[in-house]
Formats: sequence, structure tokens, C-alpha cells
Amino acid sequence: MNHGWLEKNSIFMLIGIILVIAVGGAVEIAPLFWVNGTVEKIDGMRPYTPLELKGRNIYVREGCYVCHSQQVRTLRDEVERYGHYSLAAESMYDHPFQWGSERTGPDLARVGGKYSDEWHRAHLIDPRSVVPESIMPPYRFLFTKTLDYRDVRQMLTANRMVGVPYSDAQIAAAKEDLEAQADPNSETQDDFRKRYGKAEVRDFDGEPGRITEGDALIAYMQMLGTLVDFKTYRANAPEHRR
Ligand code: HEC
Repeated sequence: MNHGWLEKNSIFMLIGIILVIAVGGAVEIAPLFWVNGTVEKIDGMRPYTPLELKGRNIYVREGCYVCHSQQVRTLRDEVERYGHYSLAAESMYDHPFQWGSERTGPDLARVGGKYSDEWHRAHLIDPRSVVPESIMPPYRFLFTKTLDYRDVRQMLTANRMVGVPYSDAQIAAAKEDLEAQADPNSETQDDFRKRYGKAEVRDFDGEPGRITEGDALIAYMQMLGTLVDFKTYRANAPEHRR
């Protein structure tokens, strides 16, 4: 074929390679300049509560993303199995995002509310106790380890630096808010509600009086995919177009 000469001329070959990489790079990078217009604004999205953010960190620390994706694609079989396909806005507060590329286990983008807290606890302690054929490893220690949240305020601050709109009040009260979400009887309930709206408040790990890593992880999983109300959401509706 004709490209024999190109492969024998190192300079032209080099220029060719640079050209191809430049075009490929531009195609990947250019859309990022318009990312604000690509991520449509939708009702319901809010930053993670301090407890959920802690749970999310445990999810990342334990490598749950190695086996679980968090992105429902627009394909019919996925939508029928998992629910409405994922919207860009649903992961706009994720740093880093958890889309994943491997599904040894099911997608978790819409797992919130699918099971009870007790189910999650039993499943994390011993997956085979609720799904006999499961190959998921057990994470028993999450329920014996007390959650260390001394750094939660800094975590919110770090997220704000990369664009998550936490307010000064949310950062200042991060610890109190974390405790309030895990304890329905706490005195700071109302303040927590004011800051995080409809976020779920309860003792997630079934062990009152103590906040474990399990509390944080279950709080995180129970909110996944639940913020946007898909009964009222219509793709490409005029109010969503910009
Ligand atoms: C080695 C791969 C692997 C890892 C790592 C893993 N899982 Fe799983 N997970 C699976 C498999 C396989 C299933 C399906 C069987 C089952 O339900 O146990 C599953 C199921 C689940 C389900 C139920 C999903 C549904 O819709 O039924 C949840 C929730 C879950 N995993 C959470 C986690 C969390 C949280 C972590 C990290 C702490 C984690 N998994 C780590 C493989 C894994």
C-alpha cells in the first residue's frame, strides 16, 4: 500500500503521529470547555451530607468501585433492570466520580431505597447470608470500627475547593450534622434539616449510641440515585434546556 513510504521516513511518521494525537486530544478535551452547558441543572441535587461523604470515602477506600459501576447507561436492558439512565448532574458533586468500568456485581447508581438498612448490614457482614450464590467479599469490620470523623470539616472544605457548593454554615457544623443524621433523637435535628433538606435521618447500622463506619456506608448507599424525582423529571423539557 501507499503508506510504506511514510513508515520508512521517521520525520514524516513523527509528524503524522503528532497530527493524529492532536486531533484525538482535541476531540477529548474540547467538550470540557463547555462542560457547564453539558451538565444540565436539575431539581433535587444537593451536596452529600457529612455522613454520606464519609461513607463515600469508605466506598472508595474499600475499592467497591472495582466490582461495581455507578452509571446506568441509556440502553433498554439497563434501564429496565436499574431504572432511569444516569444524568450527568447526578454525579456533579462526585470527586472523583464513581462511574467505574467493571461490573462483577450490579450497578449501584440507583441502589438507594432498594433494600432495608438491615439487609445492607447483613449483606456487608456476610453477603452469602442474603444472596447464597454471591462472590462479594465480607466487610464485617465496618460494624465494629467506630467512625473517625475528626477530619470531616476539612473534607467538606476540600470538596468546596473543587466546586461543591458547601456553605460556610455547612462546613462549620459538619461534625454536628454528621452526628445529627445518625441519631434521630439529637437536639440539632432542625439545623441539620435546614442545611440538607430531605436527607434521611436514622440509626443506619441498627446500633444506637455509636456511629460506625457501617453507619456512614449505609447512609451513602441509601441515598444513591434517590435525589432526582424521576416521576416529574422529563428529559429535554424546556425548563431543563439552556
Ligand atoms: C469482588 C467483587 C466485589 C466487591 C469488591 C464488592 N462487591 Fe458488592 N457485589 C458483588 C457481587 C458479585 C454482587 C451480587 C451478589 C450479591 O448481591 O451479593 C454484589 C452486590 C452488592 C450489592 C447489592 C446490589 C443489588 O442491586 O442487589 C450492594 C449494595 C453491594 N454489592 C455493595 C458493595 C459495597 C458497598 C462494596 C464495598 C464495601 C462492595 N459491594 C464490594 C461483588 C463485589
